[in-house]
Amino acid sequence: MSKKKNLRVLSGIQPSGSLHLGNYFGMMSRMIKYQEENDLFCFIANYHALTTTSEANKLSINTFNAVCDFLALGLDPEKSTFWVQSDVPEVTELTWLLSSQVNIGLMDRGTSYKDKINQGIKPNMGLYSYPILMAADILLYDTQIVPVGKDQKQHLEMTRDIANRFNNVFGDTFVIPNPDIEVNVQLIPGIDGKKMSKSYNNTIPIFDTEKNIRKKIMRIITDTSDIDEPKDKDTSLYQLYSLFLNSEEKKILSDRYDAGGLRYGDIKLEFYDRIMDYFQPFREKRKKLVNNPKNVNDILQYGAKKAKLIANEVIDRVRTSCGIII
Ligand code: TRP
Repeated sequence: MSKKKNLRVLSGIQPSGSLHLGNYFGMMSRMIKYQEENDLFCFIANYHALTTTSEANKLSINTFNAVCDFLALGLDPEKSTFWVQSDVPEVTELTWLLSSQVNIGLMDRGTSYKDKINQGIKPNMGLYSYPILMAADILLYDTQIVPVGKDQKQHLEMTRDIANRFNNVFGDTFVIPNPDIEVNVQLIPGIDGKKMSKSYNNTIPIFDTEKNIRKKIMRIITDTSDIDEPKDKDTSLYQLYSLFLNSEEKKILSDRYDAGGLRYGDIKLEFYDRIMDYFQPFREKRKKLVNNPKNVNDILQYGAKKAKLIANEVIDRVRTSCGIII
């Protein structure tokens, strides 16, 4: 905490069940790297998850699991500030203070909200004001940079809109955050060739049992070309395996694909071994965490305490700006 770091970078992640390779290579490993150079604030967005879940047990288990995932994969509670969103409930107060400055029209234009309605989901108020809660997440910590995927770009624009409006009405109160949208994020294919996503049921989980991981890998769809023929490299198995290889190893794999005589079954088994080797230390660390929930709770309380140091300062500033404190 003592070392002065560059920029305050913040991101929230919804707890959504079993972590997979797409999450890991898409977003998590990138997030975790921020802790080295920047003042990383990272939280598990359980209030947001509540907009689409009514299963209390599942939500609390998923939240605990998401915490263990992050810690196991290398998020360091000393280098960063890591907490569960609801442990700093001031964020809901800020949501309210912001709400009175947000035009309904802005929320109506939310594409993610409109998508959910198009999927037939009956919206509740939480879903409707989801972007205001997200703005509060960001603004409560004087965030400068928010690394997000393309799907969250509009939410970031809304956050900037809301902050600017508040500043115009009540005087300078909020830091205006900038998005950091990774343009060349690699698309991680699932076992069926479509983008890896829980909603397509095509994921390879990271922390599942060995048996289940192996089963998923054996199910990766491959073509039916003859053994002797060269093999297509624009395929899930090749691309997924390559994620774990250095350039030399990639070259060897590429040559084997070109040469013919390659059996997909062999490649799948090699790939399985490679994944298990790669994640072995993380799996062990995770097991220790899961078996010691008291320790995990201590880590979270420590994170919430650090987060509150900033949150309290900012919420006081906001209360004063809008006349809640006289
Ligand atoms: N809406 C984000 C998502 O689904 C999660 C999120 C909540 C978030 N609050 C945030 C992301 C604040 C960045 C900053 O991915």
